[in-house]
Amino acid sequence: MFQLLLLAAVVLGGYVFLTKTLFRRSKCHGNAAVAGKTVIITGGNTGIGKATALHLARKGARVILACRNRTKAETAIADIKQETGSTEVLYMQLDLASLKSVRCFASTFLKTESRLDLLINNAGLVADGRTEDGFGIEFGVNHLGHFLLTYLLLERLKEDGGGRVVTLSSMAYRWGHIDLEALAVNKHLGTGRYSWQFFQAYCNSKLCNMLFTHQLAKRLKGSKVTCYSVHPGVVRTELSRNVSLWQKVFIEPIARLLFLDPEAGAQTTLHCALQEGIEPLSGRYFSCCAAQEVCTWARDDTMARKLWDVSEKLCGLS
Ligand SMILES: NC(=O)c1ccc[n+]([C@@H]2O[C@H](COP(=O)([O-])OP(=O)(O)OC[C@H]3O[C@@H](n4cnc5c(N)ncnc54)[C@H](OP(=O)(O)O)[C@@H]3O)[C@@H](O)[C@H]2O)c1
Ligand SMILES: *[C@@H]1O[C@H](CO)[C@@H](O)[C@H](O)[C@H]1NC(C)=O
Ligand SMILES: *[C@@H]1O[C@H](CO)[C@@H](O)[C@H](O)[C@H]1NC(C)=O
Repeated sequence: MFQLLLLAAVVLGGYVFLTKTLFRRSKCHGNAAVAGKTVIITGGNTGIGKATALHLARKGARVILACRNRTKAETAIADIKQETGSTEVLYMQLDLASLKSVRCFASTFLKTESRLDLLINNAGLVADGRTEDGFGIEFGVNHLGHFLLTYLLLERLKEDGGGRVVTLSSMAYRWGHIDLEALAVNKHLGTGRYSWQFFQAYCNSKLCNMLFTHQLAKRLKGSKVTCYSVHPGVVRTELSRNVSLWQKVFIEPIARLLFLDPEAGAQTTLHCALQEGIEPLSGRYFSCCAAQEVCTWARDDTMARKLWDVSEKLCGLS
């Protein structure tokens, strides 16, 4: 009997501890007006991106879902319109696994839309394979596609003043490392046959997101545009769709019990998009709706600059 009580106490204590740390919830109180402003959300058709789109549409923003699959995007748009009453939610084709598609998206956007206020680099995946251009898919989609997208849209963000770039990273950046020599010569970087190898590639790509934001903030100094990277929390989404079955069986019960739902998972993104007065924190990493300290390798000036230069080369910009 005593042992049972003790066990119950330990389980409960563990649960409470986890909900206060790894699975902590927070709420965005940022309330900047977005009516009449234009937002791009990559991968806005599901998960955290869709929850973010819903909130911004409700606040009256013009929301562009930049997605690879029209059917999925149109379904999400119908949901968002129905839930918010907004008529300003649009689909534009973007496949981040193709630099050509990124260029095509940017040129269509710049031709058809008159302003850009928020760019939310949200899309991401954990998977194996290559992009159309031959890059490891996680490096290619999570980092390089977003790098080029941001690069091509930066002038438009600057034109209207006060624009922001919010990039979804992850706490998994801690386990990432970047091999610049390999990157410069071997674009196949970041693929592997085993799931732990593509988990490693995922961590590497999330470290790229951190260094990208760090360097972007420096390049934006003197303009009114600011940028932030985000760990959204541990959120129940489709992100794990490509992990193996036994991993799913292991994750699923914990996920049901502890993971945040997408709405809770969108709060830190929304904070970085809507909170007034965080401009001096440009380049920083946010989670639980607050700026956080990061490991030294995620704010390494030299590495951030080198990654930027390699990324320009790989995109054919220099
Ligand atoms: N969930 C978490 O616990 C967690 C934790 C830390 C960080 N994050 C980050 O949060 C972000 C959002 O993830 P999520 O959890 O909401 O995952 P999700 O439910 O899997 O959504 C990912 C989105 O990215 C899109 N996408 C994937 N590849 C793409 C491509 N080549 N071109 C365009 N869009 C593409 C997906 O489109 P399709 O539907 O067409 O596949 C989907 O809309 C990711 O960057 C992820 O790394 C998530
Ligand atoms: C798009 O998504 C739909 C619905 O999930 C799926 O049936 C279809 O095969 C997808 N199309 C492509 C090109 O991946
Ligand atoms: C992810 O898994 C689906 C099937 O579950 C498969 O069709 C798809 O090709 C996989 N994607 C990647 C990038 O591995």
